[in-house]
Amino acid sequence: MEVIRIPRIMQDTSRGHLLHSRTLGFVPTMGALHEGHMSLMRMSKEENSVTAASIFVNPTQFGPSEDFASYPRKMEADIAKLREADIDILFLPDVSLMYPEGFATLVEVTGLSEKMCGHFRPGHFRGVTTVVAKLLTIVRPSRAYFGQKDFQQTVVIKRMAKDLNLDTEIVVCPTIREYDGLAMSSRNTYLSGEQRAAATVLYRSLCRASDAIKAGTRSGAAVRDMLQQDLSREPLITGIDYASVFIPETLDEADEITGEVVLAIAARMGSTRLIDNMLVVPSFSH
Ligand code: PAF
Repeated sequence: MEVIRIPRIMQDTSRGHLLHSRTLGFVPTMGALHEGHMSLMRMSKEENSVTAASIFVNPTQFGPSEDFASYPRKMEADIAKLREADIDILFLPDVSLMYPEGFATLVEVTGLSEKMCGHFRPGHFRGVTTVVAKLLTIVRPSRAYFGQKDFQQTVVIKRMAKDLNLDTEIVVCPTIREYDGLAMSSRNTYLSGEQRAAATVLYRSLCRASDAIKAGTRSGAAVRDMLQQDLSREPLITGIDYASVFIPETLDEADEITGEVVLAIAARMGSTRLIDNMLVVPSFSH
């Protein structure tokens, strides 16, 4: 595996592959790699001649009171996993090379970035779109892979790629879950044993709401109440940012369920913020 730290060298390397008509798949990450990330790597390897991954804990997507300093950093283990997965290139830039002195350009997808998580994490998606725009410009991939776990992120990034005519296909891959349904996340390591067991309430609530929609519930308010009641019954949930049913393209709450919807939750367990979601297609036989 080639480890590249300098953006200019990454750009030249990609250009070389593209000139040889090789397709380049790219998996951007913030490290602390788990099976969710590795499933994206496998998908990229299946679909492209060359796969590049990046590890960059992006400071601009963390709010001032968020966990940038304590975000898990596991470089040695990550590199071993990438080698094991036979990844061709690891792009590992330093903060000073991504945001050199004088850096003054921000990429912002207005509207979509302010909804759902954006409401509770102001500036977060501007940080994400700024760094992803930079990474896609440096790596120039044919395809870039993101997990559905961060549903809003995928919608915002797809919009950005379209609006900026980026020559990269954005591929969204299914959420990978633990044996008991908890969505894999680097932040799960923050949970105590007791919190970890209780965190399955997110998945269980999503499943119950999904079943209700499939059984004929069409009222967005009824689904929202169901999700919020399920979460409120778990004593280790210390706050609910949102738990509701949304229209996947606009991220607006759905009053009436008339087509595919996304059930989504952001809830707190002590100082850990957990998110999860589920796409549901209602059956219209009722
Ligand atoms: O999903 C993530 O890990 C990050 O938001 C990303 C896409 C790597 C940008 O920093």
